[in-house]
Amino acid sequence: MHGNVIGEGAILCAYTTITSNAKIGKYFHANIYSYVAHDCVIGDFVTFAPDVHCNGGVMVEDYAYIGTGAILKQGTREKPIVIGRGAVVGMGAVVTKSVAPFTTVIGNPAAPLRK
Ligand SMILES: CC(C)(COP(=O)(O)OP(=O)(O)OC[C@H]1O[C@@H](n2cnc3c(N)ncnc32)[C@H](O)[C@@H]1OP(=O)(O)O)[C@@H](O)C(=O)NCCC(=O)NCCS
Repeated sequence: MHGNVIGEGAILCAYTTITSNAKIGKYFHANIYSYVAHDCVIGDFVTFAPDVHCNGGVMVEDYAYIGTGAILKQGTREKPIVIGRGAVVGMGAVVTKSVAPFTTVIGNPAAPLRK
């Protein structure tokens, strides 16, 4: 699609979509049915499980893992949603705010997993 830049080693499984103006780093893995919408910036070694909905203007930093069926709210230029380096978004989470690096979030709205 229009204006995307996708780094080496990307694995885009069946029924995945990258819409437009996305910048994706090295070794991205998008599992089945996931999408990356317009103006997203995805780092290196990022993994999307199946059916991840990454809405427009979201930044996902290096080594982040997004679980099955998670939905990431769209960001704006003034206030991007940032999934921090090495963060984990649990399956089914609805992420409405940025996630700090190396933090696991779950639920709707997503909040840190505390054990
Ligand atoms: C979030 C996640 C990383 C946590 O894993 P974990 O650290 O092993 O956590 P646990 O399984 O010990 O669960 C801890 C608690 O959180 C709950 N929990 C775990 N994942 C959850 C989720 N996604 N949503 C809501 N609650 C969740 C558990 O029920 C448990 O609750 P309890 O303490 O009341 O019993 C993991 O559950 C997850 O969602 N992984 C993504 C899986 C996936 O998408 N796989 C795709 C394969 S292709």
